[in-house]
Amino acid sequence: MKKKTVRDANVTGKRVLLRVDFNVPFVPKTTTIADDTRILAVMPTIRYLKKHGAKLVVCSHLGRPNGKVVKDMRLAPVAYRFEALLGEPIIYVRDCVGPMVRQAANELEPGQVLLLENLRFYAEEEKNDASFAKELASLADIYVNDAFGASHRAHASINAVTNFLPAYAGLQMEKELKMLGTALENPAKPLGAIMGGAKISDKIAVLRNLVQRVDRLIIGGGMAATFFKAQGLQVGASLVEEESIGVAQDILKKAHGNGVQLFLPTDVVVADSFSADASHKVVGIKNIPATSRIMDIGPETVQQFSRAMRECRTLVWNGPMGVFEWEAFSHGTRAIAETLAGMDNAITVVGGGSTAEAVEELGLSTAMNHVSMGGGASLEFLEGRDLPGIATLPDKDPS
Ligand code: 3PG
Repeated sequence: MKKKTVRDANVTGKRVLLRVDFNVPFVPKTTTIADDTRILAVMPTIRYLKKHGAKLVVCSHLGRPNGKVVKDMRLAPVAYRFEALLGEPIIYVRDCVGPMVRQAANELEPGQVLLLENLRFYAEEEKNDASFAKELASLADIYVNDAFGASHRAHASINAVTNFLPAYAGLQMEKELKMLGTALENPAKPLGAIMGGAKISDKIAVLRNLVQRVDRLIIGGGMAATFFKAQGLQVGASLVEEESIGVAQDILKKAHGNGVQLFLPTDVVVADSFSADASHKVVGIKNIPATSRIMDIGPETVQQFSRAMRECRTLVWNGPMGVFEWEAFSHGTRAIAETLAGMDNAITVVGGGSTAEAVEELGLSTAMNHVSMGGGASLEFLEGRDLPGIATLPDKDPS
């Protein structure tokens, strides 16, 4: 890990502006947080800073309020949960810049935590505005980015702020960079990637990057239909991205050329309609009925994929194998998650977003070596791109 981390900073008695990603999901139409994993994830950094006598100014975005104050996107419910998880009171202010906020920051005692209001209530945040970043920076002596999940955004609290304060990576950020970075740059071999999800178009750049790095590429989920089509198979009423058939052909060709073993489903679960209770059956991929659509991978494929996975020493997983939200079509995703969870002699890295959600729902998160907190961010990282919130963090001094 070449970035300077919070461990390289002298934080004692200093005010630390800590950017976190508290963009948590809510139970629809309520103020109840549905999943607090993102809050839990930054607790090691919070505790480290408190233990070392820092004064914490914590900031985050929530949702997409588009530069306006949106009542339902206030951080109040997050503040309550944060306080409960921390086990002690915090101070929550209903703004993120201005005199009231400055006063609250100035009055902080070592170890105290101040939580600011949703940064995206100001349009300047998403514009990466320098004056807004400077105002945020004026609240602290040091900046720490522990918001991996938002680091693909060139926003003021992620990017421009580093022009005004000494900047460091937080402990969650350090873990993300170490686990995802090692999987790409220096993995224990063989390296396998399991790719899924509904659409190939969301993952083109990741597939293109991974096909140059992995030893085994395992493809399931809705996107497999486009690969089948690329091989001249009939996929019935499954979603096929006609414009991506060429991409699929290219990936197949590159895999072959690079000596990558590529695995596609040999059987699938198909349904008559796209609904939770649709009648369904398992068919071989050469026998998909004209009116049916692919909803999950089949049992033979689960066996084949699991065998291929067990021979890997590093595995990266991004994207569910089927419509896992519906019980009837969740078996493939569950089986892959269970295989990963049982692999004690391999490094297992799970991408954020819906893959992390699936693993969490199955209660298997702790069995993985790493579950990323970033959806879009982990995808962009796996594409091999420089993320604006990470590229801007200074490297450690050469020793
Ligand atoms: C996420 O949930 O992926 C991050 O918090 C970023 O949110 P955004 O997609 O609204 O920028």
